[in-house]
Amino acid sequence: MVTGGAGFIGSHIVDELLKYDVKRVIVYDNFSSGKIENLREALRDPRVRIVRGSVLNIRRLMRVVKAADVISHQAAQLEIISAIMNPDRDLRINIQGTLNVLKCALKCGIKKVIYASSAAVYGQAQYLPQDENHPLRPHWPYGVSKLAGERYCIMYSELYNLDTISLRYGIVYGPREWYGRVLTIFTKRVLDGQPPIIFGDGTQTRDFIHVKDVARINILAMENDDVSGEVFNVGSGVGIRIKDLAYKVIKTAGRDDIEPIYADPKPFEMGRKPGELQHLVLDIKKAQKMLGFKPSIDFDEGLREYIEWARKWKDVWWRGEPRV
Ligand SMILES: NC(=O)c1ccc[n+]([C@@H]2O[C@H](COP(=O)([O-])OP(=O)(O)OC[C@H]3O[C@@H](n4cnc5c(N)ncnc54)[C@H](O)[C@@H]3O)[C@@H](O)[C@H]2O)c1
Repeated sequence: MVTGGAGFIGSHIVDELLKYDVKRVIVYDNFSSGKIENLREALRDPRVRIVRGSVLNIRRLMRVVKAADVISHQAAQLEIISAIMNPDRDLRINIQGTLNVLKCALKCGIKKVIYASSAAVYGQAQYLPQDENHPLRPHWPYGVSKLAGERYCIMYSELYNLDTISLRYGIVYGPREWYGRVLTIFTKRVLDGQPPIIFGDGTQTRDFIHVKDVARINILAMENDDVSGEVFNVGSGVGIRIKDLAYKVIKTAGRDDIEPIYADPKPFEMGRKPGELQHLVLDIKKAQKMLGFKPSIDFDEGLREYIEWARKWKDVWWRGEPRV
């Protein structure tokens, strides 16, 4: 069962699961940001079932969890700024929603819960690369709610012996991603013939990981029965500077005529986040050692694929809104 299975990452997990000899893959999603189009390929497979429902509707959730044996819990709200404006909603979906999944999993005797956490649990990097022992000082409601979900997972493993694994994703990118985030915004602007706008001096770094690698580590986590209660970073281990990212997008899109521009808006202006992270580079040795995880898609190759996809879908999916 994949909660949030109609979303960007969840739908790739569904695709990956279908490569295996699984009897059924259940998508549980309220379609608040997920899309049926994300499951276009998957729906050709008769093993896929879609249930429209919220993780906040525990009765409905329980009925569906009864039919599952492993859960990959991806459903969440992940808008940083809207969570700052409305932390209660973020709390409900990300914390209460996760607790509901764990309660149902325990009651229904589920074998394992994989939890989609986030590198946002670290807050500003104190050192690089950030390993799993890095201080946990989230400075956005989203990071706080993701961390709370993680702590509930660990607690359920320790207190009730429920097998849970938390995966702290870095910046996930790839086909089906249309958020208003740095790579998607740069891509959209460049495909529209406009310069990417770099906030600050562009030396901020981000750890990008391809969505197919994220889907794969979800499967590795499902297969491994010796890591209950563990938390793993999921990134590439490489930091890309935002100004380099802008040039990569320009070059890959074949628009060498465009030059990025620099701006220094105040927080909340032009979509800039307050407390913007300076650096995010994850140490992935633990996942390599304990799960046998190795990112397989090089960023330049993944970016080529992403830009091709974005070009194909641009007019259909992006009409100016941050989420379509
Ligand atoms: N995309 C990233 O870079 C990134 C980074 C770190 C962590 N994550 C985590 O990965 C997970 C998946 O994120 P994504 O990028 O695919 O986002 P997404 O918005 O595409 O997917 C989230 C899915 O959850 C569904 N959903 C939201 N609220 C729900 C509810 N109450 N009940 C049922 N379904 C609900 C949405 O409809 C959507 O399909 C999230 O838990 C997110 O916090 C993502």
